[in-house]
Amino acid sequence: MQKISEEIYSRIDNNIYNLEGDRWWQIDFSLNLIRTLINPFRVGYAKKIIEQINKIDSEKISVLEVGCGGGILSEEIAKIGYITTGIDPSESSLNTAIEHAKENNLKIKYEKGIGENLPFQSDSFNVVLCCDVLEHVHDLPKVISEISRVLKNGGVFIYDTFNRTHFSKISAIKILQEWKRWAIMPPNLHVWEMFIRPDEIISLLHENQLGWKEHRGIKPNISYLKMLRYLHKRAIGELTYQEFGNKFHMIESRSTQIMYMGYAVKSFPLHLQKN
Ligand SMILES: C[S@@+](CC[C@H](N)C(=O)[O-])C[C@H]1O[C@@H](n2cnc3c(N)ncnc32)[C@H](O)[C@@H]1O
Repeated sequence: MQKISEEIYSRIDNNIYNLEGDRWWQIDFSLNLIRTLINPFRVGYAKKIIEQINKIDSEKISVLEVGCGGGILSEEIAKIGYITTGIDPSESSLNTAIEHAKENNLKIKYEKGIGENLPFQSDSFNVVLCCDVLEHVHDLPKVISEISRVLKNGGVFIYDTFNRTHFSKISAIKILQEWKRWAIMPPNLHVWEMFIRPDEIISLLHENQLGWKEHRGIKPNISYLKMLRYLHKRAIGELTYQEFGNKFHMIESRSTQIMYMGYAVKSFPLHLQKN
């Protein structure tokens, strides 16, 4: 898989994360839906995988979140007891994350940086998390190679992202962003051509000493028909973002057609290992 072309990358609106003010933790703003709809599922998944792979005390496990935004995921990771670091290119999102962690007495190290050039030494972290970010980056192969570089040998990379299928084009792009009858996200928040097929990410992982382990699909815990009804009610003002977000949440699915989550474990070939 290649770096995204300039033409395609110019269509994604990553600027929403740079707007001033707290867009992450205000309960009636679209980004806060991450907190109620998907965060519980991915925190549970990440914790299960981290405990399976790292047989050491949680307070000795170092976790880096790449693309941490306002800290919605990093905060839950820190609450489990892991040594938590978050990086993001957006200064205003980082300011929000720093303020919110301070208000909640959470020890999290936040730094400005991009996934393509991580500001850390090699072999620094036991775990790297990258959730809802891979489909936003300009150079995915570079991001995966940087994640592998900063992971310790035996460390785990956990991610979620969108699949590039006809179903995801209709649901995540047309319904959630473009068709006014239902849309809940700003247009160009996601660009379908930047979505990643599972086979593409598996190849990139293998090219970077990351042994792919599994993918799990993600879906709402209500029918798609019911979800369309709630989306419409939100679009015509009968439901607020918060009320909409309380109607359902994401759960594991056998289908990876729209979104999926997975993990890989770093393992250097024996002849390259330090000891
Ligand atoms: C949908 S948000 C996800 C935030 C966070 N991971 C969460 O789930 O709460 C996408 C984030 O990716 C960040 N981002 C965009 N391009 C990036 C890049 N090249 N490297 C790292 N992060 C990036 C954005 O600034 C934004 O905060």
